[in-house]
Amino acid sequence: MIDLVATARALFAHGKGILAADESVHTATERLASHGIPTGEEMRRQFRDLLLNAEGVEQYLSGVILFSETLAQKGNDKNLFPLSLAARNIMPGIKVDLGADPMSESPDEFITQGLLDLPERLAVYKKQGALFTKWRAVIRIEGDTLPTPTAIHENAKRLASYAKEVQTAGLVPIIEPEVLLLGKHSRAEARAVITRTLGTVFSVLEEHSVDRASVVLKTAMALSGSESGKKDTPEEVAEDTLAALAESVPRQVAGIAFLSGGQTADQATDNLAAIIRRAKDVSAPWPLTFSFARALQDEALFVWKGKEENVAAARAVFLARLAAVSSSLN
Ligand code: G3H
Repeated sequence: MIDLVATARALFAHGKGILAADESVHTATERLASHGIPTGEEMRRQFRDLLLNAEGVEQYLSGVILFSETLAQKGNDKNLFPLSLAARNIMPGIKVDLGADPMSESPDEFITQGLLDLPERLAVYKKQGALFTKWRAVIRIEGDTLPTPTAIHENAKRLASYAKEVQTAGLVPIIEPEVLLLGKHSRAEARAVITRTLGTVFSVLEEHSVDRASVVLKTAMALSGSESGKKDTPEEVAEDTLAALAESVPRQVAGIAFLSGGQTADQATDNLAAIIRRAKDVSAPWPLTFSFARALQDEALFVWKGKEENVAAARAVFLARLAAVSSSLN
């Protein structure tokens, strides 16, 4: 019998965090193309090998969130990715949502899909070595109109159903109700929407009898919108992010992991460091860490360009960023 609370807590091992490498085929294709890298299954495999088999990642990573395709692929060393991660004491996780579609009630907002065949898929992922899972919902801020209470509530209900199903299957759920950075909103609005969204999510989780002690929350930081023209200081981000979390997140959760959400690598690293500093000052009750995708990967992709001769340099850049992000946890 797997101890879900211990597994969830182990994602917050000292100085370590989670690499999100769970881009869907569509997103990975876009990501690679944006760096001029040709696409296709083999390039996605090489992209994952570049990151997951970089020597020494186990110093910084407690877990990696994978996409289903990667769970069944082998690295250049001919070992299945989830098995080679586990051999280095890095827990393999799996994105289980199937992406978000526009909501019929509010077409500018999104509702995440993937509950229908979830139990069957979880059984397969577990056999393949996954120990934890992730479900992402997206919440848009737009003027006074978005998010609608319906979008928040409907996404919260699906997050809760997902989390319950995952715990029943003996896996740890990461719930990720991401309040998007995109928009003209102020940092104060982001803080208010994060507070409202997480408050709703945790009250619906309780209605569904989800065990909070083995739930990991993955959240955005409270930032001014990407089109607001405002650049927040790390201290401002830390204050508003922790204020939002203090109002909405029960102390019993296993921990909180931050996504990077489209911030630059430096911004995400500096903001995380400020959040950790302030969390210590205010004695925040939860373990905190990172679960970045773009802020950990972008610099490496830029150097790699899909070429074998750049692999060593790309890995060096990736490890340097991992070291910086991990040292911001201290
Ligand atoms: O679902 C989103 C990823 O897990 C985090 O990605 O750090 O690029 O926002 P990001």
